[in-house]
Amino acid sequence: MLASLEARPADPLLSLISLFEADPRTDKIDLGVGVYRDATGQTPVMAAVKAAETMLFELQDSKSYLGPEGDVSFVNAMAKLAFGNISVGKSYTGLQTPGGTGALRLLLELWQRANPDGKVWLGTPSWPVHETMIRSVGAKIQTYVHYDTTAQSACPDNLLAAIRSAKSGDLFLLHGCCHNPSGADPDASLWLLIAEALLNVGAIPLVDLAYQGLGNGLDEDATGLRILLDHLPELLLAYSCDKNFGLYRDRVGAAYVVSRQLGLLEVAQGHLSEIARSCWSMPPDHGAAVARLIMTEPTLTASWRQELNQMTKRIQSIRDRLAEFGDIGKFAFGRLRNEKGMFALLPATPDEVVRLRNENGIFMAGSGRINLAGLQEADCDRLVQAIGRLPSFAHKRTS
Ligand code: LMR
Repeated sequence: MLASLEARPADPLLSLISLFEADPRTDKIDLGVGVYRDATGQTPVMAAVKAAETMLFELQDSKSYLGPEGDVSFVNAMAKLAFGNISVGKSYTGLQTPGGTGALRLLLELWQRANPDGKVWLGTPSWPVHETMIRSVGAKIQTYVHYDTTAQSACPDNLLAAIRSAKSGDLFLLHGCCHNPSGADPDASLWLLIAEALLNVGAIPLVDLAYQGLGNGLDEDATGLRILLDHLPELLLAYSCDKNFGLYRDRVGAAYVVSRQLGLLEVAQGHLSEIARSCWSMPPDHGAAVARLIMTEPTLTASWRQELNQMTKRIQSIRDRLAEFGDIGKFAFGRLRNEKGMFALLPATPDEVVRLRNENGIFMAGSGRINLAGLQEADCDRLVQAIGRLPSFAHKRTS
C-alpha cells in the first residue's frame, strides 16, 4: 500500500527548528518559526501560566472527559476577550480546539458543509497552512494579492475588489491582526469598508486571530473583528492562545460561529461537535484550563496582561531599532515601525534566504519572512549588514 504514496517534502517552516538546532555556530540567529523570545533569547513560560499550572496541580480533582466542546468556561472567557461586548441581537456558539489550527480546520469544514459550491478567498502571501488547509477540506480557493512584496505595501484595493467580485456565501479568510507574514494590518477605516463590502455581497469572514495583544494591545488588536461583528449577520472566528499565552505546545484554541439567528447556532454547534468528534474527539485540556484560570483569577489576569504588554513593547522596540536604519538598498526598514506583530517580510529571493543562513547563520522562512520577536537588540546591526550585502538588495528601491 505504502508504495503507492509519493514522497512529500517536510514542512519548510517547521524544518527550520531542527536545522537551527543542528547548526553548531554559537552566534546563529533564529528568525524562523513564530515564537516569542525575550531579551535573553528564551521563550519563557509566562509567570501567570506557571502560577495557574501550580493551582491546577493542586485543585484539579479529575481528568474525566469534558465532551467535544472542551472547557466551556475557557471558550466563554476567550469569546469575551476577542469580541468584547457582543452586539445585542447576536450571539455565538463555540468550542475548544487543539490550537488555532484546529479551529481553522473545523470552521472551514463547517463552511464547506454549508456552501459546497462556494469559494474561499485568500489574500497572498499568507500563513502557508491556510492554503494547504483550504485545499485539504476540498474547497475551491481563489487568491488575490494582499501584500506586494516588491513594492513593500499592502494592497487594500485588491481586497475590496475581490470582495466585490465574490458571491453570496463565499468565505474570506482574514488575519484579525499582526498579519502573518507581512505585519501590514488594515486600519479601522479600512475594516469598515471591508465590512460594508462583505455585507453588500453576502460573503462571510473567517477571522484568524492568532496574535491578539501582540500588535497594539488586546482591545486594539480586536478592532477589525469587532467592526465585522457589528456590521455582519454572521461570522466565523478561529482563536489561538499559542502566542499571547505562550502556550505553543499545549495547543490551545477555540472556534466560534456568530449569528443573529439564534436557532441556527444550535445547528452549527451540532455540526462543529460532530466534526470535532471525527477528528480529535475531545480537545486536550491542560492549556485551556490554564488560560481559563488566568482569565478568571484577577491577580493572574493582571500579571498576564502586564507580561503580554512587556512582550509587545519588546517587539516594538526591535521594530523601532531596525527602522532607524532607513532604506538599505531595496528594503525600507523604516516601514517596520508602523507594521504590527512578530513578522516582517524581506523582499529576499529563496537563494538569498539560503545564503543568509549558510554565510551568516541567520535563519528565516523561505519566503523571506523574519520573526522580529526572535531578534536580540545586539543582533540588529549584524542582520542589517548581512541583508545589505545581498546582491539584489544593493539596488536602490524604486518605490
Ligand atoms: C508561524 O507562522 O511561524 C507559526 O504560526 C508557527 C506555525 O505553526 O507555522
